[in-house]
Amino acid sequence: MKHNILVKNKDKERSCSEDKNLMSSLSVCTDLVPRGCHNGACGVCKILVHNGDYEKTKMNRKHISEEEEDSNIVLACRTFPKSDMEIEFISKPKTQLYTIGN
Ligand code: FES
Repeated sequence: MKHNILVKNKDKERSCSEDKNLMSSLSVCTDLVPRGCHNGACGVCKILVHNGDYEKTKMNRKHISEEEEDSNIVLACRTFPKSDMEIEFISKPKTQLYTIGN
């Protein structure tokens, strides 16, 4: 069964199968999702679920705290849609520190 997934921060929608994780389904649209590991290790697929039902597998605690998980913040590569959903990618790009020398 397929469900419509609205990526709110990109204002785009895509149909995703409920037996595939969101990251795998959405990554065919390279402008929709960041590049990531697809196995829970890197954390770039961190999303906030605004609406909709989903099932999830084990979250990597390095990237998703229990409090976040309870607040519908999950990894897209560990999340399977069970209804239409509205999501937002919220991981921040890693910042680089530069040293200003004289
Ligand atoms: S893509 Fe790396 S944790 Fe989901």
